[in-house]
Amino acid sequence: MPMDHTDYTEANRRAWNEAQTKKPAGSFARALARLRAGEDLIHDDIVDALATIPLQGRAVAQFCCNNGEELLSLCRRGAAGCVGFDIADNFIDEATALARGLDLDCRFVRTDILGIEGYDERFDVLLVTIGALTWFRDLDPFFGTARRVLKRGGTMLIHETHPVVNMLAVPGEKEYRADDPARLANSYFKAEPWIETDGIFYLAGKTYPSQPLYSWSHPFTAIVGAMVRNGLTITGLTEYDHDIGSIGSGDLDGKGIPLSYLMTAVKA
Ligand SMILES: C[S@@+](CC[C@H](N)C(=O)[O-])C[C@H]1O[C@@H](n2cnc3c(N)ncnc32)[C@H](O)[C@@H]1O
Repeated sequence: MPMDHTDYTEANRRAWNEAQTKKPAGSFARALARLRAGEDLIHDDIVDALATIPLQGRAVAQFCCNNGEELLSLCRRGAAGCVGFDIADNFIDEATALARGLDLDCRFVRTDILGIEGYDERFDVLLVTIGALTWFRDLDPFFGTARRVLKRGGTMLIHETHPVVNMLAVPGEKEYRADDPARLANSYFKAEPWIETDGIFYLAGKTYPSQPLYSWSHPFTAIVGAMVRNGLTITGLTEYDHDIGSIGSGDLDGKGIPLSYLMTAVKA
């Protein structure tokens, strides 16, 4: 029988739980110490965008929040009633422990994004950061859930890998050539999933034989189309030629290749 969203998500949950156990020793204590010291554990592009999005007293949510360090960084800016959602039990536990250690009004809920219940029209701001959209084969229910949890007039902020990156061969893939890092290896419109069994490098700092991870690339047509169909009015889009972590090498920065983007939208 073909796999459906529930099957992929359950497999990804196992793989993300495993990834949490591969983090270097001391990473939790380091994150807590940095947050306690007032450091932002969130990308500067988002910090810049927040200059025009007030957070004081606002309810802020994050989809696919991982260990919550990004949401906690925002929560400290006076946000109230922050909630992070993620499928991985281990990361939700870690996020909850970080929030407790910082004494912040931020809670974390273990759930498939498509299964979120009890938060309709709850949030003023919804954050989605790098490496979130890729776990959803179909973006319509993802953005449908975004619309459902946002208040009318609420803002969605997406800071993600540029779809063009999916065309590149990246370090670790057999098509990658160190002397030609801009080599195109995949169709922009690739529909079949990536199935990876070498772990989550950015967390472990190394590859490891892992539970399978299933992910998809989405051309801008799919992203924008799903947003429009779900009543999200795009209010801003900036494309950057710097990598925010998907490639990791920094080799392609500043070469005019779109590598990341930041998009804002409002629930009409
Ligand atoms: C790359 S992280 C994104 C968060 C953050 N930008 C980061 O880099 O840590 C991807 C997260 O998506 C979560 N995830 C994957 N599929 C999900 C789903 N269907 N529902 C909720 N969370 C999901 C994973 O557990 C993981 O923590």
